[in-house]
Amino acid sequence: MSTAERLTVPDIRRMEESDLDSVMEIECTSFSTPWSRASFSNLLGRDDASLWVAAVDGNVVGYAVVWYVLREAELGNLAVASGWRRHGFGRYLLDWVLDKARRRGTERIYLEVRVSNRGAQELYERGGFQHVGFRRRYYRAPVEDARVMCFDLGSGE
Ligand SMILES: CC(C)(COP(=O)(O)OP(=O)(O)OC[C@H]1O[C@@H](n2cnc3c(N)ncnc32)[C@H](O)[C@@H]1OP(=O)(O)O)[C@@H](O)C(=O)NCCC(=O)NCCS
Repeated sequence: MSTAERLTVPDIRRMEESDLDSVMEIECTSFSTPWSRASFSNLLGRDDASLWVAAVDGNVVGYAVVWYVLREAELGNLAVASGWRRHGFGRYLLDWVLDKARRRGTERIYLEVRVSNRGAQELYERGGFQHVGFRRRYYRAPVEDARVMCFDLGSGE
């Protein structure tokens, strides 16, 4: 990969209904049990959730979904289009989410990841998340444990 490609910076903006064709294409090629279009659509209508897309030249190349419960948050979804992986976009989206959560006064952000998904775990570990436990048989197709990870944002004050 050339240095120029590595230096591409995506535009991050709020997801809109009109992004859902692109989002679903990435979702369906990224996960064995993809979220439905309705799941994204329902979250778009909630004010306790934030859905972000990363775009390059106007094309959606990744997204992140977070929802908030009091002073905690859950990173519910994060994916980058297969042709755009290892360009730093996952980390860029992750840092964006953490920054927005911190500004809201969020104290901790949690996520679950398949124990076999070493690439994502590497991303989260390098991004500052720490292992806090497992959820046994959390995933289906195939059934697999989830590793639970947490980023401590501090008091948010
Ligand atoms: C996980 C995912 C979001 C990473 O996105 P990405 O844009 O490729 O990640 P980045 O380029 O920002 O990677 C940042 C760092 O994370 C680590 N990393 C990312 N993908 C990795 C992989 N497949 N293997 C090992 N390390 C990986 C590396 O340390 C990488 O730094 P480097 O490229 O300098 O080595 C992407 O692979 C993806 O969409 N996967 C399918 C969906 C998924 O698993 N989502 C997470 C669900 S919990």
